[in-house]
Amino acid sequence: MSDGKLLKTLAGTRFGTPPVWLMRQAGRYLPEYRAVRATTTSFLELCYTPEKAVEITLQPTRRFGLDAGIIFSDILVVPDALGQKVWFEEGEGPKLEALRNPDEFGRLSRARVPDHLAPVYDAIRQVRAALPEQTALLGFAGAPFTLACYMIEGGSSRDFAKVKAWAYGHPDSFGLLIDLLVDAVVDHLTCQIEAGADAVQLFDSWAGILPEEQLFGWSLEPMVRIAHAVHTRHPKTPILAFPRGVGPAALMYRRPDAFAALSLDTGIGAHWAARELQPHICVQGNLDPMMLVVGGAALEREATRILDKLGPGPFVFNLGHGVVPQTPPDNVARLVEIVRNWKPPVS
Ligand code: CP3
Repeated sequence: MSDGKLLKTLAGTRFGTPPVWLMRQAGRYLPEYRAVRATTTSFLELCYTPEKAVEITLQPTRRFGLDAGIIFSDILVVPDALGQKVWFEEGEGPKLEALRNPDEFGRLSRARVPDHLAPVYDAIRQVRAALPEQTALLGFAGAPFTLACYMIEGGSSRDFAKVKAWAYGHPDSFGLLIDLLVDAVVDHLTCQIEAGADAVQLFDSWAGILPEEQLFGWSLEPMVRIAHAVHTRHPKTPILAFPRGVGPAALMYRRPDAFAALSLDTGIGAHWAARELQPHICVQGNLDPMMLVVGGAALEREATRILDKLGPGPFVFNLGHGVVPQTPPDNVARLVEIVRNWKPPVS
């Protein structure tokens, strides 16, 4: 169990500077990740080989002294565990054997999740034992809507026409798929917490493709149901929600009964978030990942602007989306230094 800055911040303590970690902090921008990646052609094999997943998870925490590690895995291990075929093609991202109709998801089974994902829980146990006590370990899962997007589109998509046709045209059957995913994600998060994850994040990376009227039912409500179910077993474990791209509908996600923090994408203004969100809930975010690529004065200016607006808290410094592969690692080290040296503006 960690008792460091991230968990204390999520529980309401304010520090002079906020805790910092970065979405996708492990990955191709790090030479030490590429060295482990080169030992296999299969990305899923990395996720399912505890020894490799442990090493990759620890790499950015060692190099940058971040306030949290996030277990190295992927949101698509859940469809894989449910029995859908998932693979990753070099340079093309994830591919899935797309679900074409409700009969096909009838074959998916939640019962396989804990056994199939046992290597992930094993890796979590080992990472927790290896991390310093003040460094939190995060588990995570994809939110049901984002998982449904990949499962129905068969991968990433330009227009999400298939998942929208299903959700809008056959809401009853789409609801059954969402229900199955709610249960599977509850199991997956519960197992991660029981293996040693100190907090968990739900990634709804594609929430922003939905019209506002559909967000409640397909994005927010399933995430709240997951949070409440996880909390019946683990009432104290903080759950962070990342509804990417929802704009001002982020107001709906101010749900302290479910979430300990709301992770903001780059499109949300820090000034607006400080006024509308922070009085109700801790926020996390939201530096543009491209600022980390550019570095220099632009990085310094933009990180400081976000810190000045949100730093008085409750706040967790992060990006608005994941670290991209072309990021120079030295810029990440510089960012951590900027956050740790920041002083609140005198008012
Ligand atoms: O460091 C961490 O943040 C932990 C590991 C992590 C990965 N994926 C590793 C990964 C996490 C938290 C994720 C989440 C994830 N995966 C999301 C939600 C966050 C987001 O980005 O919106 C999504 C949508 C996915 C699905 C996914 N996995 C895509 C679209 C891709 C291809 C894009 C890419 O960067 O290649 C992946 C593959 C993937 N997941 C990689 C990593 C490090 C790269 C694979 C490689 O090394 O070949």
